[in-house]
Amino acid sequence: MTELTLESPAKINLFLAVTGRRPDGYHDLVSLVAPMEWGDTLHVATADEFSIECSDVAVPKDASNLVLKAADAFRRATGFRGGAKFTLTKRIPIGAGLGGGSSNAAAALKALNQLAGNILDDEALKTVAATVGSDCPLFLQASPVIMRGRGEQIERVIGSAGARIRGTKLLVFKPAFGISTPWAYLQMIATAPSSYIPSEQAEAKLAAWLDGSGSLAELLFNNMEGPAFRKFPALPALLDQLYRTFGVVGRMSGSGSACFALLPDEIEIEVVKAAIRAAWGESAFVLQTRLG
Ligand code: C5P
Repeated sequence: MTELTLESPAKINLFLAVTGRRPDGYHDLVSLVAPMEWGDTLHVATADEFSIECSDVAVPKDASNLVLKAADAFRRATGFRGGAKFTLTKRIPIGAGLGGGSSNAAAALKALNQLAGNILDDEALKTVAATVGSDCPLFLQASPVIMRGRGEQIERVIGSAGARIRGTKLLVFKPAFGISTPWAYLQMIATAPSSYIPSEQAEAKLAAWLDGSGSLAELLFNNMEGPAFRKFPALPALLDQLYRTFGVVGRMSGSGSACFALLPDEIEIEVVKAAIRAAWGESAFVLQTRLG
């Protein structure tokens, strides 16, 4: 038996511009995404069949599980005849916009490819990842990336822009409720065209930040906040409060409901955490981490 253990990080969308609906029903987007130095752990052991155990009972163990979907997609793409027992230690909250399921699927693909002797090159692995989920390909890169299309076009962020992202200290916080991604996109459709930002405008905003020397706070943008904030006013209320009280800048990640705030070095983090818990209660998820 061969065994592997992989880290499966969560992500934050620092910039997310949904630019319009595509003929295939998905949405085109331009997003700058960074992995966190924190996430789930996936242990993989060779076995006769594919199966999954998970520390969180809320995660399905049937074919709807993204790790098993990834394993099935890998088998179909490569003819791989082996199996694997996946053991997932789940820490990333579900329905958060933190990419947990997609990250787990990407980790499973990396592990299976390694077990199969790197049968797929990076490009082929990305193509398989895109069939599993729109957010899956970005997790094949352990670095900040720009994603385009429905998420399958990935470009690494390097140079000074990468340096302005990596190592950034942040708080990630999620209320007890989650937001379903399909619901969030349906709201974008219901309020179209004003919910979308033209792609030229999104590209220009992003390019200005990448080519400039502005702080990360100047980059933050997410036009999926509109529908989420209308239904869940507790999200903008807390982000506004954190800005007014502590001067920290925050946004929602992806389709929510998790939000994040960038932490300047001098801030007293425990006081900010206490404010989050006071607003959203003890059941809120609160994490201090850094961008990878
Ligand atoms: O690709 P994935 O299964 O993660 O997407 C979940 C749902 O989110 C899709 O069914 C679609 O409704 C919506 N979606 C979208 N455009 C994207 C990504 C997701 O409309 N770029």
